Amino acid sequence: MYESYSNILKTLEEHSHFRTIKDFTKKDEKYIYFGEKRLLNLSSNNYLGLADNRRITEEFMKTVGGKYSFGSASARLLTGSLPVYKELEDLLATLYNKEATLLYNSGYHANVGISSSIAQKDDVIFSDKLNHASIIDGMQLSQGKFFRYQHNDMQSLEKLLERERKNYKNAIIITESVFSMDGDIADLKTIIELKKKYNCILIIDEAHAFGVFGEKGLGVAEKLGVIDDIDLLVGTFGKAAGSMGAFVTGKKVLIDFLINKSRSFIFSTALPPINIAFTKWIIENKFPHTFEKRQNMLNIAKKMGSESHIIPVIIGDNQKTVEMCNILYENGYFTLPIRPPTVPEGTSRIRISLTTEITEKDLENLWNIIG
Ligand SMILES: Cc1ncc(COP(=O)(O)O)c(C=O)c1O
Repeated sequence: MYESYSNILKTLEEHSHFRTIKDFTKKDEKYIYFGEKRLLNLSSNNYLGLADNRRITEEFMKTVGGKYSFGSASARLLTGSLPVYKELEDLLATLYNKEATLLYNSGYHANVGISSSIAQKDDVIFSDKLNHASIIDGMQLSQGKFFRYQHNDMQSLEKLLERERKNYKNAIIITESVFSMDGDIADLKTIIELKKKYNCILIIDEAHAFGVFGEKGLGVAEKLGVIDDIDLLVGTFGKAAGSMGAFVTGKKVLIDFLINKSRSFIFSTALPPINIAFTKWIIENKFPHTFEKRQNMLNIAKKMGSESHIIPVIIGDNQKTVEMCNILYENGYFTLPIRPPTVPEGTSRIRISLTTEITEKDLENLWNIIG
């Protein structure tokens, strides 16, 4: 009965695509431990060192955490929610100067919920080819049509808009700001010009930029001064904020629409109150003091040729990528091989993600090994 599954797994193994979950012994804001072996963690999205940070956890639990429970027990539309949920939504709406905000349980929930519901039968979505799986999955569930433009290629986007926009009622453009596996940054200024020219709704996923870019840490849109031109801006709390969950902020009519129509919001138990309180506490108390550290991290990345804190080292071949990760492991660096289907075939890579805890000196030997 299970033969077809084991055959698929065999094929994955033959192509060095087989994935397993690594069991580590412990983790802190900078290192990961396998038994006695300590490695510099270059494979996390803990960009500000706020996750797995004992000092931060203790401070939160002493000051705020004790008041909140570990289970919400229902979806928000079923039972309602404690004030802290609305407080976090209002805080984000104020920071972004938007009319309303909605929390989701994760970035995956947010993107699936938004991109599956935002386009109706006569509508169309234009999506960057390298957008995250959660956006693609959502579009596949959508009743609308979707087109994928070449990665960060504004000519490819405009060509599609020119050809297809007129055939649909609503049109939506969706892109990440910092691309998760390549670390490059979308050309938001041109995308905004095109959005205006072709009368589109613009959705930006700032998953990897929230907490990292901009003076207040709101993302690339803040850095470029274009927040007002974005109809729906998505951010996640599971990365730089060191927490869990996500948000979307924008016009009230769109947020109300998502509350009523995005199924990943409607049909899932809300995150625990303690988690929501932690996220709010982090944004209020920790984000404001990170600017200099973030700049320093981005300067290190720039020297390595990356526009962001995510530095892809593309090796190409799956097996060679796995081998390089093993060599790095032996030398005290924790990285994981990123292979298809996460990235296109033939572009397997080591994705190095910097955090504010990592110094230039920590990385010296790494670059020597990678060459
Ligand atoms: C661009 C992008 N959006 C959304 C997500 C999903 O966010 P979460 O991990 O909070 O589900 C990710 C996560 O890897 C991502 O890279």
